[in-house]
Amino acid sequence: MVKKAVIPAAGLGTRFLPATKAQPKEMLPIIDTPSIQYVVQECVDSGIEDILIISGKGKRSIEDHFDRNFELEERIKADEDEVLYTQLRHIENMANIHFIRQKELNGLGDAIRYARYHCGNEPFAVLLGDTIIDSVIPATQQLIDTYEQYKQTIIAVEVVPKEKVSRYGITGGKKISDKLMQIDELVEKPEVDKAPSNLAIAGRYILTPEIFEALDKTSRGKGNEIQLTDALRLLLRHEDILAQTIEGKRYDIGNKLDFIKTTIDFALKRKEFSKPISAYLRNIVKDMDNKV
Ligand code: G1P
Repeated sequence: MVKKAVIPAAGLGTRFLPATKAQPKEMLPIIDTPSIQYVVQECVDSGIEDILIISGKGKRSIEDHFDRNFELEERIKADEDEVLYTQLRHIENMANIHFIRQKELNGLGDAIRYARYHCGNEPFAVLLGDTIIDSVIPATQQLIDTYEQYKQTIIAVEVVPKEKVSRYGITGGKKISDKLMQIDELVEKPEVDKAPSNLAIAGRYILTPEIFEALDKTSRGKGNEIQLTDALRLLLRHEDILAQTIEGKRYDIGNKLDFIKTTIDFALKRKEFSKPISAYLRNIVKDMDNKV
């Protein structure tokens, strides 16, 4: 059983400056919900309520967000806004969320090492905060279902266009079913001509405790950081690792363009916004067509 999840959230968010100068990138909202809340919700929807957030300097507002804000709640209650009141109470009761601070920013692999004592001898899910996956069955649940069958490390992957290959960890291997591949190669952000494929690591993993030993042996890689992808490559020498294509739409909100697209898509899915936003978009397109 996978009962624990780790969400690394210590990064500086340099790709989102200046918005992230004094606030965590994980708190940037898609409409009215901080991106990290979508990720915590995915854990909960996948049956995981024990979550460790790897936090760091300047990240206190993440803790505050999942804590109770009594004064605010009382105000909303007095205003008789029951929907909002329920929403606020939901956030603080979503899960058991624990925090640990990464002392130095030495990369994703180093961040995961901080989960060693929390996860102990159990397998655990890792969810990267700059990815939101919209799917019928939550992405982490899809990986857990496969884990229950194979009891192996599993990485979610997605086909990306060639020009995006150098932004991701890339996997290579042998297909064993429609959605699964036995991995035989893993490279962090390769040049496109050196990449084993265009199957990118998609920000969701099921890891086993063996990863911690591999991380201890991993030297600095891409960007002079300890890379999780490099530790997984070490692990591959002793263990099989599976790659799984997830059913659903992945939103890479770590870059500004995709963040804007995500906001539009999510607004179109919300009952109160779908009509006015689609009308607004249609008008924009009409204006553009008129100018051509
Ligand atoms: C990280 C991982 C990379 C993965 C990506 C997915 O990179 O190191 O392997 O493909 O997340 O979003 P980052 O985007 O943190 O640089």
